[in-house]
Amino acid sequence: MHPDRGSAPLPRPRGPLSAQLLAALAEGAPLPCRLPDLGDPLEDEDLQLALTCCYELHYRGFVGVDDRWEWDPALLALRAELEAHVEGALADRCRPGPEIGPDAVVGAVAELVASAGGPSLSSYLADVGTAEQLREFLVHRSWYQLKEADPHTWAIPRLWGQAKAALVEIQADEYGNGEAGRVHATLFAATLRAAGLDDGYGAYLDRLPASTLATVNLVHLFGLHRRHRGALVGHLAVFEMTSVEPMGRYARALRRHGFPTVAAAFYDAHVVADAVHEVVALQHMVAGLVRQEPALAGDVLFGARAVLEVERRFAASVLDAWAQGTSSLLPAQARAVPCR
Ligand SMILES: [Fe+2]
Ligand SMILES: [Fe+2]
Repeated sequence: MHPDRGSAPLPRPRGPLSAQLLAALAEGAPLPCRLPDLGDPLEDEDLQLALTCCYELHYRGFVGVDDRWEWDPALLALRAELEAHVEGALADRCRPGPEIGPDAVVGAVAELVASAGGPSLSSYLADVGTAEQLREFLVHRSWYQLKEADPHTWAIPRLWGQAKAALVEIQADEYGNGEAGRVHATLFAATLRAAGLDDGYGAYLDRLPASTLATVNLVHLFGLHRRHRGALVGHLAVFEMTSVEPMGRYARALRRHGFPTVAAAFYDAHVVADAVHEVVALQHMVAGLVRQEPALAGDVLFGARAVLEVERRFAASVLDAWAQGTSSLLPAQARAVPCR
């Protein structure tokens, strides 16, 4: 357990880019002025960790890092370069096909969700996964679910009318409707503790591979840029529309392994809440947005496709590791990469 429960501990670097960035945040060393050679932006460990560090400055930040880094012009310029790589990779994979009209968006998002294939982590864990694999899964999700809903909240001041009302209706549930104990992030912290895991914010950052970080960085990318408000709405719609059955399976997995009753409360709450949220998200939020801003139709679909793509990669990487009999997490003591 780290000493500051509010902020995340600074992670270990994973390559020259994150090493230089972390040295800047921790000691004021110069920021990288040139990007090193990078692999697939959605899977590059160095890039995804660097992006994670840039984005976290807008949330609860890092222990010992000056809050003023949040709006440091040089850091924002570096972040923009990294984002351009990620956006390019996403555009290649998730923006194909003809332009879509606003009237077709609701049906297209529903069709996308209905036809989404790929491996199912929740089915695996409900049916055959071990207790240790279930704990690994909770560790993967901890980086997002301890700040669950926060990235989508960025859209509230950027929407109006029906889309805004629908988003706020969803977010009010996410934040417990005024009851601190019902905040979804708080329920997830209780799940971690009940599973014998550390509920500290960012406690497992060093264990999360790029495919996990990419799922969280995607929603930060959409959340922090007003120009991506359509994609953020598409992202949230898919989140809500793909929740009820998987959440029920995770609850089953926790019960099958005899975890304390409180462990499943987070998942049980989603089975109930998201049966409503999936309708509000699609029929009110998405439909309301494209009625008000028809030009965002393609962006909504892009956001929906993008979240399905990163989640498919995440699930595949975890299940591949398990199929090979190995951990899906990074080693506990990954070797620090020196700054070049
Ligand atoms: Fe939630
Ligand atoms: Fe929800």
